Amino acid sequence: MKDMLESIAREAKASLELAQSKQELENIRVKYLGKKGELTAVLKQMGKLTPEERPVMGQLANEVRASIEALIEATDEKIKKAELEKKLREEKLDVTMPGKKSELGHKHPLNIVLDEVKDIFLGMGFDIATGPEVEWDYYNFEALNIPKDHPARDTQDTFYITENMLLRTQTSPVQIRVMEQQKPPIRVISPGRVFRSDAVDATHSPLFHQIEGLVVDKGITMGDLKGTLEAFAKRLYGNDTKIRLRPHHFPFTEPSCEIDVTCFKCGGKGCPMCKGEGFIEILGAGMVHPKVLSGCGVDPEVYSGYAFGVGLERLVMFRFDIDDMRLLYENDMRFLGQF
Ligand code: DAH
Repeated sequence: MKDMLESIAREAKASLELAQSKQELENIRVKYLGKKGELTAVLKQMGKLTPEERPVMGQLANEVRASIEALIEATDEKIKKAELEKKLREEKLDVTMPGKKSELGHKHPLNIVLDEVKDIFLGMGFDIATGPEVEWDYYNFEALNIPKDHPARDTQDTFYITENMLLRTQTSPVQIRVMEQQKPPIRVISPGRVFRSDAVDATHSPLFHQIEGLVVDKGITMGDLKGTLEAFAKRLYGNDTKIRLRPHHFPFTEPSCEIDVTCFKCGGKGCPMCKGEGFIEILGAGMVHPKVLSGCGVDPEVYSGYAFGVGLERLVMFRFDIDDMRLLYENDMRFLGQF
């Protein structure tokens, strides 16, 4: 029995030295010290011993148990320490590892084109003016020669805050605000948001953007209007671009026109994009109506001016060949990522 106890002690010690994990440690504990373990099995045979041998073997068995227990505890400490060290080693910051990539944003297509338009006009000596989006009926309509019963109001229905206060339908009211505050010479563009109670579809939105232009000075003619806007069109769409002025009507300009540019897809030959026309309309313009000038305290006998209004969405859609305006507002990264 003594031999058996000693060999249990030896074997337990040997396997404990090899133990690497808590699980292995537990298996060893069960194997040697558990209720069905080897030590218990030996102790069960104590009955076969003589009364003299019993206390001696009992003591030896207790010593073996105690030594195994002590070894288990020490090994447990050793494993814990090794695990901690391993963890610390693994958690070390590796500065050579590739970092997490953070997505860099970029300009929205509306802003790409708007910034180009601003650059072009700033380069020609224009300033940038701004006006409120919540506007008085007076500035949005009355002062632009669109009285209460004028049919032009039907095409520019909007959202009213009160009877006299509304969300502006055009950037043209900024013309009035600038002329009220500034003596000629005036040379401004005014980009901004405008609103109309239109249902959303591929070419309409209740919120869109315009860029207004206004030049007032002595001796300004339709020639200045044409030359400036031709230079603008060439800068925006390329040197081969030609423009075409078509007679039109706006209440706040006289004479008025719409300006077309040669189709950038077919260069003027006619294609589906320009519906076979060779030209595409990009803006409305004209000579500022004398009534509008005098309403702002500018003497139409001394000064003259031209004005124009461009729809930014149209410019962007033609520029990037986008066939549905809604794409510009939906913030879908699959779309926006292309610009
Ligand atoms: N405000 C006009 C519109 O929304 C566009 C426009 C046409 C502006 C002629 C002008 C202009 O300044 O002279 O349809």
